[in-house]
Amino acid sequence: MNPVKVGLLGLGTVGGGTVTVLQRNGEEIARRAGRAIQITHAAARSLDKPRPFSTEGMTLSSDPFAVVNDPEVAVVVELIGGYELARDLVMQAIDNGKHVVTANKAMIAKYGNEIFARAQEKGVMVAFEAAVAGGIPIIKALREGLAANRIQWLAGIINGTGNFILTEMRDKGRDFADVLAEAQALGYAEADPTFDVEGIDAAHKLTILASIAFGVPLQFDKAFTEGITRITREDVCYAEELGYRIKHLGVSRRTEAGIELRVHPTLIPHRRLIANVDGVMNAVLVKGDAVGPTLYYGAGAGAEPTASAVVGDLVDVVRALTSDPENRVPHLAFQPDRLSDLPILPVEATETAYYLRMEADDRPGVLADITRIFGESGISIEAFIQKEPAEGAVHVPLILLTQRVNEGKMNEAIGRIEALSCINGAVTRIRVEHLDA
Ligand code: NDP
Ligand code: HSE
Repeated sequence: MNPVKVGLLGLGTVGGGTVTVLQRNGEEIARRAGRAIQITHAAARSLDKPRPFSTEGMTLSSDPFAVVNDPEVAVVVELIGGYELARDLVMQAIDNGKHVVTANKAMIAKYGNEIFARAQEKGVMVAFEAAVAGGIPIIKALREGLAANRIQWLAGIINGTGNFILTEMRDKGRDFADVLAEAQALGYAEADPTFDVEGIDAAHKLTILASIAFGVPLQFDKAFTEGITRITREDVCYAEELGYRIKHLGVSRRTEAGIELRVHPTLIPHRRLIANVDGVMNAVLVKGDAVGPTLYYGAGAGAEPTASAVVGDLVDVVRALTSDPENRVPHLAFQPDRLSDLPILPVEATETAYYLRMEADDRPGVLADITRIFGESGISIEAFIQKEPAEGAVHVPLILLTQRVNEGKMNEAIGRIEALSCINGAVTRIRVEHLDA
């Protein structure tokens, strides 16, 4: 049988990894797919840039639309990134009757609903395994492997760059900016690295996971996002002292009122496996009602781990080329006309435990003032640490762990504590998740 001809958009980190993996494992991949997969066309911004792989046999262009519109190309692999250009290219490919594979979580989270609707109309596949958690086949696991379950919640470390930064800062005391620069050099970071450190990239991925887990449309604009830039060394140390690790977590939970969709730094008990996921590795915990808790672990970024997911999708697409479009796995796991309108909850309506750190006057009565506010708000304190004041300082650090409480209620209590004359500056708040089964 003739090889399936692929048009590759982007020859950067992931594009390069995809070429390398297909070249190295081509024969074995063909045995799995039933046909050889050949990149015949490719586009990049600069055609003169030296690349650490061979582009022999590919027709190269600096115009990605030339690839998308070439009648020879059967499958388009979009690895350029970004929102609008990528969407336009993918829509054009779909209109041309081509199947699409993409690693672009930003595009899927923002424009996935319209992209999938158009793909459904045209009877083509849009595969996006590489968009979430790099090389971990979490989309396949959720969409197919866990199809028997009513998913209750999921929580994941789903940004490799952020986890790499937090790990290096904690283990080696390295500076934030230094580690970020290394993550960029290693090809882990997004073109705009604020997407990584401010949690936007993780929110894109969480939006996709939540849709597939709970059968709701993609609603990136409703995700709550807090980054890791304000985590201090002290908080990392106090968390360890209390038996916790700080991880940048995406959490989505189904409640009777709606779906929680939030990305924020989180204290996790250090004995949990996910608390020990370090460096560029990612992990996603999924709790289904039948299977119980399940954990998926692997490299969350980088050329070949991500290419592993891209090429896995290519194999799926090639295997399904002759299948009836009506009988393919739905893009968002649920049949498109059976999506639910369960709302995404505002963060004020969610419930977690909290780690709070504040600087207080070193005098009697301060603790009584704070505990009175918590008591009046119905918030129970789980643990408390008072530190010695630093040399020459007039304030003492107070660290508290609370039990689970509604975020709106906690906001009110924090407002009242910050207004106390014995409290210096803002209260630092980090959410706590126990993630017990
Ligand atoms: P890179 O920046 O390394 O590569 C982007 C590629 O797109 C480059 O080859 C670039 O060309 C090309 N390109 C950019 N703009 C244009 C344009 N207008 N016309 C033609 N070509 C263009 O990005 P990555 O490979 O890191 O990321 C690609 C996608 O994969 C993104 O959506 C990203 O979020 C996603 N992703 C990345 C992961 C990673 O670990 N890096 C992991 C998972 C997903 P040139 O080389 O000439 O500059
Ligand atoms: N910038 C992303 C990360 C790439 O660091 O996780 C993988 O999606």
